[in-house]
This record gives sequence, C-alpha cells and structure tokens, in this order.
Amino acid sequence: MSDQYAVVGNPIAHSKSPQIHAYFAKQTQQDLEYHKIFSENFKKTATDFFAKGGKGLNITVPFKGDAFRFADQCSERVKKTQAANTLKRLDNGQIFADNTDGIGLVQDLTVNHQYSLKDKRILMLGAGGAASGVLPSLIEAQPQKITIANRTIEKAINLAMIYPYMDMVGCGYNDLKQANFDLIINATSSGLSGDLPPIPVHLFKNCQFAYDMMYSLDADTVFVAWAKEQQVQHVLDGFGMLIEQAAAAFNLWRGIMPNTTNIKTQLF
Ligand code: ATR
Repeated sequence: MSDQYAVVGNPIAHSKSPQIHAYFAKQTQQDLEYHKIFSENFKKTATDFFAKGGKGLNITVPFKGDAFRFADQCSERVKKTQAANTLKRLDNGQIFADNTDGIGLVQDLTVNHQYSLKDKRILMLGAGGAASGVLPSLIEAQPQKITIANRTIEKAINLAMIYPYMDMVGCGYNDLKQANFDLIINATSSGLSGDLPPIPVHLFKNCQFAYDMMYSLDADTVFVAWAKEQQVQHVLDGFGMLIEQAAAAFNLWRGIMPNTTNIKTQLF
C-alpha cells in the first residue's frame, strides 16, 4: 500500500491540498496517497489515522491547536505558536508537529514576489491562530517592526508579549490613525462573512504591499478587491502561501522539495 497522508479540518470540502500533494508526488515520483478527512473530534481522527499506519497529516481550521497538543514533539516555532499545521510520524512512532504556514507566507513574499521583509514596518490584522502561526517566520525575516491590530485588543497585546525581543506591539484598529506601514497582512477570518477589518483607508495609500492570507480562485477576496481599489502597488491573496506551505510540509514528510513554479496554471 502507498504511504498515507491526509488533511483534517471542519469544514474540509473546499480544500485544495489533495490536488496539490498529488501533483507534488507525481512530480517527485513519490508513492503516496493524500485524502481529505472531515472531523468533529481531532484527537480521535488523528489517533485512528496513525493507528492504521498513516504517515502524516495537515491540519486546518479549527484544529491547529489540537494538533499541537496531540504531538509528542514539536519544532521551536510550534513551541511559540502552540498551533501546528503538519504532523509527521517519526520512525520511533512518536508524532512530530511543525507549522509551515509562516514559511509559506515568507517564501511567497520574498522569493516568488521578490519583496524583502528586512527593515519593513509590518501591520498584521488579526490575532487568532492564523496570525500567531506565521509570526516566527516573519520575525526571522528581520522586519523593523510588527504591529498587530485586532478587534479584541487584549488578544493582540498578549500575542505581541510572546516576543519581547522584537519591536512588536498589539493594539486595536482605532489606534492606527497616525500610523504608516510598508506591508499590511490580513490574517483575520472576516472575509469568510464578506467583512473587512475596519482599518483607516489612509494606511493603504502609504503601503507598498497588501497581502490577504485568505485566497479565492474565482474572484478577488474582499480584502484584495478593497486594496486594489485603494491602488496599493502590490496586492496578493494567499494562494501562493497555500502552495508554499504545502511544499514545505511535503519536504518535511518526504525529504524532497517539490518545484512550485507555475502550479496555478497547471492545476487550477
Ligand atoms: P484563525 O485560526 O483563522 O486565525 P481565529 O483564531 O478564530 O481563526 O481568529 C480569527 C481572527 O479574525 C481574529 O483575530 C478575529 O478577531 P477577534 O479576535 O476580535 O475575534 C478576526 N475576525 C473575525 N471576524 C472579524 C471581523 N468581522 N472583523 C474583524 N476581525 C475579525
């Protein structure tokens, strides 16, 4: 039987991960199968999957925290974020957790789109699992400052406090009136309900890059459409991040890095 992998989430029907990993497996000639699993109880789903010999899981909303708690070992970045998007069964049977979302985001910005994060002033919108998961990788890219703005201000302040060695502050959206940023990243889930995070529009006028961690294959996400209306020079949704986080997970499992060039045109 081929090595078994899967993505677990709730909902999961929309996930593109099976197509992406099938493409990587074919390209790198790896003998594996990758499925979607809908779950209402992550611990039970993951226990059953690994008991049957499964090799690795990707984890999406809302189970990234459960995946961290399920693992026996984890990477340094997962220790910080307490959220994992990738689990791997090690040779000794233990489960190792990592989070490749931040690698995916930074790879998409800095390599695919040649936008260096060094000394940049970054505004992160949102302070939930999506935002916290990418912070270690953003910090490694050496920005000048990261400001985290969130509807629930306390969550932004608490998140910033995890990184006392970094120039990082947490605040509410109303505190952004006088501020300027080079890069604005939307890590809120507001787009799911067609909403926008309530930031002052002048922030877009002065920024170079707006990045929505959500993606849409059919039409622009609400955040991307809004940033384009404000004529931000570079506007991207999170499709590239999705592909790159998948490639990093594939590499963790199989020890081989797939080529991600032109995957959008080839697959979708
Ligand atoms: P995820 O894992 O996708 O980050 P989450 O942990 O539930 O999911 O976090 C969702 C984020 O989107 C939070 O920052 C949330 O703000 P609150 O912490 O104040 O709830 C933010 N969010 C969701 N809907 C929003 C909206 N309509 N406007 C602004 N922020 C929103």
